[in-house]
Amino acid sequence: MQNKIEQLRKMAEDFRPENPDAVEKFRISFLGKKGHLASLFSEFKEIPNEQKKIIGQEINDLKNYVTSKIKEFKVQFDNNINTNSVSDLTVPGKTESSGSRHPISIVRNQIIDIFTRLGFNISTGPEIEDDWHVFSALNFPPEHPARDMQDTFFIEKDPDILLRTHTSSVQVRVMEKNQPPIRTISPGRVFRNEAISARAHCIFHQIEGLYIDENVSFSDLKQTLLYFAKSMFGEETDIRLRPSFFPFTEPSAEMDISCKICGGKGCKVCKHTGWLEILGCGMVDPNVLSFSDIDPDQYTGFAFGMGIERITMLKYEIKDLRLYFENDARFLEQFSSAF
Ligand code: PHE
Repeated sequence: MQNKIEQLRKMAEDFRPENPDAVEKFRISFLGKKGHLASLFSEFKEIPNEQKKIIGQEINDLKNYVTSKIKEFKVQFDNNINTNSVSDLTVPGKTESSGSRHPISIVRNQIIDIFTRLGFNISTGPEIEDDWHVFSALNFPPEHPARDMQDTFFIEKDPDILLRTHTSSVQVRVMEKNQPPIRTISPGRVFRNEAISARAHCIFHQIEGLYIDENVSFSDLKQTLLYFAKSMFGEETDIRLRPSFFPFTEPSAEMDISCKICGGKGCKVCKHTGWLEILGCGMVDPNVLSFSDIDPDQYTGFAFGMGIERITMLKYEIKDLRLYFENDARFLEQFSSAF
């Protein structure tokens, strides 16, 4: 009987499973109802009493050894550890997927590229701002609804510290530090207290443009934006300006581009108008120049601001804004760019 125990122990020691099935077979052959240990225990009943102590101990040791070995192999397979010391050279290699730029970054860089070609430089400002730079210096009256808690995330009240709701705050920071000529664009994140949906998010990106010099006219604004629209969306793109209102520009306008999906004929995307709104713009209000110590009798300027998410949606025909924030690789992998 002791021979048999020794043989079984040797067998267990030499056991090298190739897969979890082999471990299970091994378990059944040793610990199953008709397994080696069961038969050892039934033989055990027959042996003389004086040998029982030693042999009983040996059988128990074997049982413990086999049980712990099975546990070990299970853990190894669960963790996918290769038990062979030589790796399998026929296993196909793992492909490393290389990262790509986020579509918002691609479009932001394209917009920057277009305006730097026209001589605009890049400026940035803080995301956490004060009331002066986001509202007051931009000619927002004290009771203006955009100052409301519903739109603005406040961090502190009196004095108001808040998350900027638009990149127009950077206009103010640039005007405070520089005298004209000023020709700058300001890309950045902005924050508004909006419910998240396919068309709105509480965090998004804007690019602001500001041009101040002597004799800057509305036709300069129009020509600059036409150049931008054609460079961004293609030579065949048309623009139209509709009168609008912003506290910091006068006159103000909203700019539409001809719908590139239907070529202006009317489709679902442009709601059958043939036009898509892409930005707000206007001539800088003389009050805004004065607030930042720029002489409105000597200088004039134009400003514009656009949402990068919106431009990206139109460029790539993306229908749901939330995709930009989910970081789903299946979405992100579709974009590649030299920018
Ligand atoms: N700041 C405006 C907005 O967020 C856009 C704008 C910028 C309009 C500059 C006119 C001039 O809607």
